Amino acid sequence: MYTQAMDVPNADDAPSVAAPANEAEAAAHFDARCAAGEYVEAKDWMPDNYRKTLIRQISQHAHSEIVGMLPEGNWISRAPSLKRKTILLAKVQDEGGHGLYLYAAAETLGVSRDELLTALHTGRAKYSSIFNYPTPTWADIGVIGWLVDGAAIMNQVPLCRCSYGPYARAMVRICREESFHQRQGFDSLQTMMQGTDAQRAMVQDAVNRWWWPVLMMFGPHDKDSQHSETSTKWGIKRISNDELRQKFVDATVEQAKVLGVGLPDPALTWNAERGHHDFGAIDWTEFWNVVNGHGPCNRERLAAKVKAHDDGAWVREAALAFSAKQAARAAA
Ligand code: 3HC
Repeated sequence: MYTQAMDVPNADDAPSVAAPANEAEAAAHFDARCAAGEYVEAKDWMPDNYRKTLIRQISQHAHSEIVGMLPEGNWISRAPSLKRKTILLAKVQDEGGHGLYLYAAAETLGVSRDELLTALHTGRAKYSSIFNYPTPTWADIGVIGWLVDGAAIMNQVPLCRCSYGPYARAMVRICREESFHQRQGFDSLQTMMQGTDAQRAMVQDAVNRWWWPVLMMFGPHDKDSQHSETSTKWGIKRISNDELRQKFVDATVEQAKVLGVGLPDPALTWNAERGHHDFGAIDWTEFWNVVNGHGPCNRERLAAKVKAHDDGAWVREAALAFSAKQAARAAA
């Protein structure tokens, strides 16, 4: 879909899009295009802040996909059957692919993959809070599929209609694959729920630990969401953090009944007047602690990611040497 983009733009490359003669007019025209639901493409003129917002969001998203491989990769060698191991391997590989499409989409905005990775490896870039929680049991893997991927789909389907074309197109394939991820998690939990008392208790314990961090994945309440207003104006965000969280709760309550698990929130009740479930207060102190690097596994995740990058240095060197050799041959 996209190039692997091993190369980075040269500092002396001419800008692909000339600055408009009248910036205010160009900005008004741009806003009107977004309001009309048009797609913006990489070579179109765009306001600096639109570009920055997208680089921020797409790169955070890419980092989340890649760091998200770690908690599950931890279980590949311990999956309880060949079938579950094959499914888990496929899922973790899919997440790696999602990261690559997203880095490539971010690169179309004029940032290099090296810059993005350096920001992640030095702790400057964010990735989703959810991947800083541990996976001590096999049930955690099912719960990640059911709840974490379920929440990811809820947030990501609207991104298929995001105003930036390369991001929107990448999201179409990602969402199809995420849908398989959610189904396999539910299927794995359903099997365990039909097993022994100990297996059912393991599922319930994992649901209890993941429920609140999953609700935090949608981001702060709308009133505290600093980027929502501009991102909504430009059609990057189509549905707000709180609306998506509510849709997720409403859908998941029904799925939990089918599974036969409880959700750990005494305040969770159907509100007929609103036509939605009410739910309890989220612990935002915990959320910001995790986002700011102080969650249960932040250090471990970052260290594992940096080690994997360092261990792969020879692959990048070999690929660059091969590409230089081919370029020299072509020039000769
Ligand atoms: N984890 C870490 N940081 C978070 C966060 C979370 N769950 N939710 C919000 N934040 C951060 C924002 O990045 C922002 O920080 P910044 O200014 O340093 O960038 C700050 O909190 C304020 O939040 P806002 O609501 O103002 O930010 P946004 O408007 O960007 O909304 C978002 C946040 C809803 C996560 C949005 O960025 C988004 O939709 N991103 C794309 C989807 C994505 O990245 N999903 C991550 C999970 S991917 C995944 O789960 C993989 C799958 O395989 C399971």
